[in-house]
Amino acid sequence: MTPKSIIITGASRGLGAELARQWAAPGVLLGLIGRDAQALAEIAAACEAQGATTRIGVLDVREAGALAELVLGWDDAAPLDLVVANAGITSGTRPDGGLEGHEAATRVLAVNLQGAVNLVEPLLPRLLARGAGRVALVSSVAAFRGLADSPAYCASKAGLWAYGESLRAALGPRGVGVTNIAPGFFDSAMSRRFQGRHPFKLSTEAAAARILAAIARDSGRCIFPRRMGFSLRLLELLPAALADRATRLFRFKVTEG
Ligand SMILES: NC(=O)c1ccc[n+]([C@@H]2O[C@H](COP(=O)([O-])OP(=O)(O)OC[C@H]3O[C@@H](n4cnc5c(N)ncnc54)[C@H](OP(=O)(O)O)[C@@H]3O)[C@@H](O)[C@H]2O)c1
Repeated sequence: MTPKSIIITGASRGLGAELARQWAAPGVLLGLIGRDAQALAEIAAACEAQGATTRIGVLDVREAGALAELVLGWDDAAPLDLVVANAGITSGTRPDGGLEGHEAATRVLAVNLQGAVNLVEPLLPRLLARGAGRVALVSSVAAFRGLADSPAYCASKAGLWAYGESLRAALGPRGVGVTNIAPGFFDSAMSRRFQGRHPFKLSTEAAAARILAAIARDSGRCIFPRRMGFSLRLLELLPAALADRATRLFRFKVTEG
């Protein structure tokens, strides 16, 4: 598909901002959502300079009611054809060895998983009624295997991946596409907090370009780098003790955000 009316959450920086810049063109309407008003305004200005029209929603994806009201209003004004749930946060084992703890784990699940559901569910009846459109969910290769240092992040992304796989099977025959996206490491404020190895790390620009290409092809899945996704998926087939030992290759610590 060539999307013309797009919503992106987490559009104030990182991957979400880069997706907006790469989609920005004359005839494209971009709805940019995040909490940082100033950063969103700067991204919107950059997209408008490329000929796109923009609208900004300054809110937290955990605010389900406000988010539904915003996106349904946008859909009333100009029907959406692409909805990208990208907003995400991370937490994990601290550099001092401390656990992530209940508060951080709850926040990660609420933003990464519930926040995506808060965005998508209100719009699904509209997309189904039109028999058109696409939902794109930014998960992670961390969805494929629980990593020792980021339990809640892996759980949130595994949940999001399963949600997307279910939605695609259900909605595809009714004309609505779903692209489940599982990136490995790419350069951003988030990955700069990870202390440890960043195997096969990409630039944000390269990560966004792969997602644009997958959506242009109407792909159901977008996993990159493929060898990283494949390795982590393979670990799930090993006996638990062996898989746990192999997972130690992916150890990292998360600094304060
Ligand atoms: N970087 C990686 O290596 C990597 C790898 C795999 C998957 N991912 C996933 O890719 C997505 C983008 O990550 P990134 O690396 O670009 O991260 P980032 O640079 O930290 O950007 C995260 C974005 O999410 C927004 N956000 C965070 N909490 C929010 C909330 N409660 N409500 C609304 N927006 C919120 C932030 O905006 P505000 O602060 O303005 O709200 C920001 O625009 C995430 O889902 C992440 O899990 C990243």
